[in-house]
Amino acid sequence: MTRRWTPGSWRERPAKHIPTDYPDPADLARVETELRRMPPLVFAGEARRLKSLLGEVSAGRAFLLQGGDCAESFKEFSADNIRDTFRLILQMAVVLTFAGGKPVVKVGRMAGQFAKPRSAAVETVDGVTLPSYRGDNINGMDFSPEARTPDPERLIKAYTQSSATLNLLRAFAGGGYADLHNIHRWTLGFVDGSPQGARYRELSDKISEALTFMQAIGVTPQSHPDLSRVEFFTGHEALLLGYEEALTRVDSTSGDWYDVSAHLIWIGERTRQLDGAHVEFCRGVKNPIGLKVGPTLEPDELIALIDALNPEDEPGRLTLYGRFGSDKIGQRLPRLMRATRDAGRRVVWAIDPMHGNTLVAANGYKTRPFDRILAEVKSFIEIAQAEGVHPGGVHLEMTGQNVTECLGGARALMEGELAERYDTHCDPRLNGEQALELAFLVAEKLKAERHATPLRAAE
Ligand code: PEP
Ligand code: CO
Repeated sequence: MTRRWTPGSWRERPAKHIPTDYPDPADLARVETELRRMPPLVFAGEARRLKSLLGEVSAGRAFLLQGGDCAESFKEFSADNIRDTFRLILQMAVVLTFAGGKPVVKVGRMAGQFAKPRSAAVETVDGVTLPSYRGDNINGMDFSPEARTPDPERLIKAYTQSSATLNLLRAFAGGGYADLHNIHRWTLGFVDGSPQGARYRELSDKISEALTFMQAIGVTPQSHPDLSRVEFFTGHEALLLGYEEALTRVDSTSGDWYDVSAHLIWIGERTRQLDGAHVEFCRGVKNPIGLKVGPTLEPDELIALIDALNPEDEPGRLTLYGRFGSDKIGQRLPRLMRATRDAGRRVVWAIDPMHGNTLVAANGYKTRPFDRILAEVKSFIEIAQAEGVHPGGVHLEMTGQNVTECLGGARALMEGELAERYDTHCDPRLNGEQALELAFLVAEKLKAERHATPLRAAE
C-alpha cells in the first residue's frame, strides 16, 4: 500500500543536509508561516508545460540545456549577472539547435538555487572550528560565528531575490530581448574575441541570412511571435524542504500539489535515499523532478527510485543527471542506462559533467579541468548512442561572467590564474567561453546522432 503523502510528510523521514541548528526553532517556524502566504513564483501550468517538453526530450525529439550558478548569492545578485547567464544560455541553445537540429528546452539553475549540501558539517581555519557555509538562504560565507549561524530571515531574502530574478527572466524571455533577430547582440564581450566567438558569429550570420529570407517570404515576428520570444524555465535542488513545503500549493486547475518555488526541482546525490525525506517530498508534487545519479548507485536501486518518483511512467516527469567523473562514467553508466531501457522507463537521461570532476589544485583552489568535463560529456553521448538511448541533455555550473574557476579551455587557463577572478560561492563554474566551447562539441556529437541508428528506447 502506498503511504499517505502530505507536503509535510517528509518530516517523518530521515533528512540529510537540512540544518537543525537554528538558534530558535520557533523563529524558523514563524518565517515558514510567512512564506506560506507568499505568492507562488511559478504557475502550475508552466510546470506542466515543461513536463511536456521534457517528454519530448525523453522520446528523443528535443534536448535539455540546464545551467547556472552552483550557488546563487546575495552578494553577486545583479541585473547584469542575470542577463549574462540568460544570454549565454540563449547562445548555447542557438548552437545546439542549429548544429544539433533539435529544439532545446532551456532551464536556468537560477531564481532559487541557494542551499548547498556540504561534505563536512564544520570547517576549521587556523585552529578555529565553525559550521560550514551552507548557502546564502541558510548562513553567511564569512568565517565568523555570527555569519555561520543559520538565520531564518535569509529564507525571506532568498524568496525575494528569486522573485526579482524570475521577473527579469520573464521580461527577457518574452519582452523582445530573446528575439532571434538579436542573435548578434547576445555575444558576451569577452567571448567575442575568442575562437568560440568567431564560430558563433559565423553561425549567427547563417541564421540572420535565413531570417532575412523568411522575412522576404512573409514569415515575420508579427506573423510568427515565436521568433521573438523563448520559453525559459527555472530549477534548483530541493534541499531545504521547509522552504519547499511552504511554497507547495494545490493547483486549482488540476487539484494536484505543485512546488511553486520553481518549474523543476531535483534531488541531489547526497540526499537520494529511497526512504529519506527528499525522495518523500518530491514524490508527492507534480513538477518535473530531477535526480542526480552518481557512481555508487546500483541499477536495482535506480529502478526503485524511478518507481517511487514516477510510478505512472509519465514522460517528462523524471530526468536523471549522471555525474560520475570522466574516469568512472565508462564503468558505471552503461549498466544504469541498460536498466532503464530494458525496464522500458520513459526517463530523460542527461549529464552533469561538473560534480564528478572536481579537484583541489596545488594552490588550494577547488577547480575542474575543462578537458575532463568535455571528456565526460563525450563519453555520455557515445555510451547513450551505443545503448540506443537518447543523450537528452546537459546540466552545467556556468556563468556569463568572465571567471577563472575551471582549468583549460581554448585559452588554456592555468592553475596560477585561478585566483584572478574566482568568485563562486561554492563550486567552480564554466565561464562563457568554456560553456560555448562545450555547446559546440555537443552540437557536433548530436549531429552525428541524427545520422545514426534509430533509438531503441520506448516512445
Ligand atoms: C549540485 O548540483 O550543486 C550538487 C551538489 O550536485 P550533486 O548533488 O550531484 O553532488
Ligand atoms: Co555544485
